[in-house]
Amino acid sequence: MLFVCLGNICRSPTAHGIFEQAVKCEGLDRDIQVDSCGTGDWHIGHSPDKRATAAAMQRGVDLTALRARQISVSDFDEFHYIMAMDEQNLADLKAMQPAHFTGALDLFLRYTGNESLTEVPDPYYGGDEGFSTVFDMLDKASSELLAIIKRDYSI
Ligand code: 4NP
Repeated sequence: MLFVCLGNICRSPTAHGIFEQAVKCEGLDRDIQVDSCGTGDWHIGHSPDKRATAAAMQRGVDLTALRARQISVSDFDEFHYIMAMDEQNLADLKAMQPAHFTGALDLFLRYTGNESLTEVPDPYYGGDEGFSTVFDMLDKASSELLAIIKRDYSI
């Protein structure tokens, strides 16, 4: 499971932390590898944004060990599920997707079943409350997608 946003310091590390914690809680950490990255290179090696870390910590999810990295074409061999946060991320990923990739490349919020909300808004330029809203969206999509994976793979 690979979560992708632009900078890998706000949205995708939050999704990474939430999903990884859920996978551990379910005892599935040997079956499901979780990671995140950005399409951009500005924040390589950086910790998640302090506001993202604080919003996640309030809900019991620790992002402090995460460091930003950029997507690589080899990620398409490594991961079956590649989840984009917004349409631009998805377009950038589609442009680099190798022809042999047979996994699921999609907008993460498609898994919430809410057809009017398909993109995770970028909270980077906004206030703290944006990070809390983003956390809720990602938390819901994580639960839904993990339930689908458990059902599909009978795990
Ligand atoms: P993210 O947010 O894609 O959710 O990590 C952003 C972080 C940094 C920038 C843009 C978006 N930036 O332009 O530096």
